[in-house]
Amino acid sequence: MKVTVVGAGAVGASCAEYIAIKNFASEVVILDIKEGYAEGKAMDLMQTASLNGFDTKIVGVTNDYSKTAGSDIVVITSGIPRKPGMTREELIGINAGIVKTVSANLIEHSPKAIIIVVSNPMDTMTYLVHKTTGLPKNRIIGMGGALDSARFKYRLAEALGAPISDVDGMVIGGHSDKGMIPLTRMATRNSVPVTEYLSEERLTRVMEDTKVGGATLTKLLGTSAWYAPGAAVSGLVQAIANDQKKMFPCSTLLEGEYGLNDICIGVPVVLGRNGIEKIIELNLTEAEKEHMLTSSEGVRKTNGLLDV
Ligand code: 2OP
Repeated sequence: MKVTVVGAGAVGASCAEYIAIKNFASEVVILDIKEGYAEGKAMDLMQTASLNGFDTKIVGVTNDYSKTAGSDIVVITSGIPRKPGMTREELIGINAGIVKTVSANLIEHSPKAIIIVVSNPMDTMTYLVHKTTGLPKNRIIGMGGALDSARFKYRLAEALGAPISDVDGMVIGGHSDKGMIPLTRMATRNSVPVTEYLSEERLTRVMEDTKVGGATLTKLLGTSAWYAPGAAVSGLVQAIANDQKKMFPCSTLLEGEYGLNDICIGVPVVLGRNGIEKIIELNLTEAEKEHMLTSSEGVRKTNGLLDV
């Protein structure tokens, strides 16, 4: 199993690190345009191998796509991250051009690869990859929901005073401050709905804190977060590599599901060796359907800025 991560910034390096530590890939290639940067990150990570006990070979390259050839999975993290006060949507001008070029280069050298898109605005970048590569929809996956759900579980555990391992929950919709839909109605603590323990007011706070999860970190760190995004990507990569048939909310092209068409947005999917093997249609309430519609309108507005 060969995995390429494009972008050796904090998110890309964190993806490579978590993938390596989980020890299921034979090789991870990190590619960056900054001379020597990916090589440095790869060497530093390789020097953790004996300490962390992994055998994955990590290779760094400067813009040499020939070294990515034959990758089974490619992860696109390239582009500029948010600065405090910025929305993910504001990054579109610069990131659209980068993502278009990067995905074309990757597919030229790894025509069978499954693409995971992390660059923001993520739903729109996933849609762009669809429009420009023409790959089948099962091979293009946008990473947002897995990260947002991890942040949701963190906030739920905090509100419940419970360990995170007790908690389950999922966020669907667009990967944006306004577009995320934390499904509080379906969230549980050891199979018991969290609505049994938390007031509506407390749950609203959990939802709001989840939705600004990325923005809160950007304010604290001065740039966007990397540990949880990296861990979320590694979970998706592992589910594909090990054919786990695991369910995650991911951005995928909808063709009628949830009443939506020609849009990439977060919904639960099953991930296995063929990428997105199934889209799960949840039985949403009228209010949740309304949220999904509003969220999709936001994503469409950003898609409208694309030149495709
Ligand atoms: C985040 O929410 C990077 O979009 C990513 O942290």
